Amino acid sequence: MNIIRNQSLKSYNTFGIDVKADFFYELNSVQELNKISSSEVFQNEELLIISGGSNLLLTKNFKGFVLKNNILGIELIKEDENDVLLKVGAGEDWHELVMYAVENNWGGIENLSLIPGNAGTAPMQNIGAYGVELKDTFVCLEAFEIASGEVHSFSNNDCCFGYRESIFKNTHKGKYIITNITIKLSKKPLINIKYGDIKNELHKLNITNPSIRDVSNAVIKIRKSKLPDPKEIGNSGSFFKNPVITKAKLEQLLKTHPDIVKYPLDENKFKIAAGWLIEKAGWKGKTFDNYGVHKKQALVLVNYGGAKGNDINKLSELIIKDINAKFGIRLEKEVNVI
Ligand code: EPU
Repeated sequence: MNIIRNQSLKSYNTFGIDVKADFFYELNSVQELNKISSSEVFQNEELLIISGGSNLLLTKNFKGFVLKNNILGIELIKEDENDVLLKVGAGEDWHELVMYAVENNWGGIENLSLIPGNAGTAPMQNIGAYGVELKDTFVCLEAFEIASGEVHSFSNNDCCFGYRESIFKNTHKGKYIITNITIKLSKKPLINIKYGDIKNELHKLNITNPSIRDVSNAVIKIRKSKLPDPKEIGNSGSFFKNPVITKAKLEQLLKTHPDIVKYPLDENKFKIAAGWLIEKAGWKGKTFDNYGVHKKQALVLVNYGGAKGNDINKLSELIIKDINAKFGIRLEKEVNVI
């Protein structure tokens, strides 16, 4: 076991922030995890588990042990005429998994095409896009409990999924290392094109009876047109969550902002497009030296190269303050700031 000292984390986070970890190890199997967990470094140092590094803003050198989760493998564990169950190693690239499902015409995750990150981090924040969330196909996961070294299984219910939320961002934060997830995909998929952008994209292409592949291609096209590719411009996708407000608050805002972008959740709750709020407040495309707010999607903060995590974090705080002052809505960060 070769634990590396002073490892740069630049290529391990999609923001491309160049900080160092005191100790670093790339984990390839559960067996290795069992071994490494008895090492002094694992037991004495603060731990940070990185998988795809796609929901992370690193603001300083990490004075502890970074474990990069590379556990691979896609296993078809059950199949009948309707569904397949896939057990997927935490380190598998999420988009490649989606492509594998699309190639086999197994439906359920095609709307989640091109989301950066790995399978094992997908449940942490219940990734979602274009009307679909991980929780819709998620069956269970296995995770290594850091304190005891035991492997525990978590069902869909156990994970307490919510909008960009799970138990692993709350009470279980930092306590488990997810080793694999199991998802259920359908051989008789129901296409979900409720989301306006997908419908428009398919309409442009004259597709009236879309296949899973058509939906995936449409999503890829939309994402590429709006969201920066982390390989070219460092970013972590949406930096903030879309806030939820009450009907009374919405009615008050509509008086001064009749064009506010809103989605009803129930009788009394509305989700507001944070991208709209940030754009309205004048932040969209704002650039400070080598970082800023993305030009095409105001919800995304970007590192144009060499930016410090702290600067990006300070920018996010300024935006939160300004949105609160202008609209009386407090934005929450979606990204994990370390
Ligand atoms: N909008 C603006 N200005 C902007 C951005 C958005 O006015 O700069 C308004 C537009 O009216 C637009 C609406 O907001 O129609 C919604 O924008 P978009 O479709 O881009 O979606 P979003 O609500 O900003 C969410 C997710 C994305 C996901 C898309 C599509 C969150 C925090 N973000 O963004 O997820 O891809 O919907 O489903 O829920 C991510 O989590 O990293 C992510 C990219």
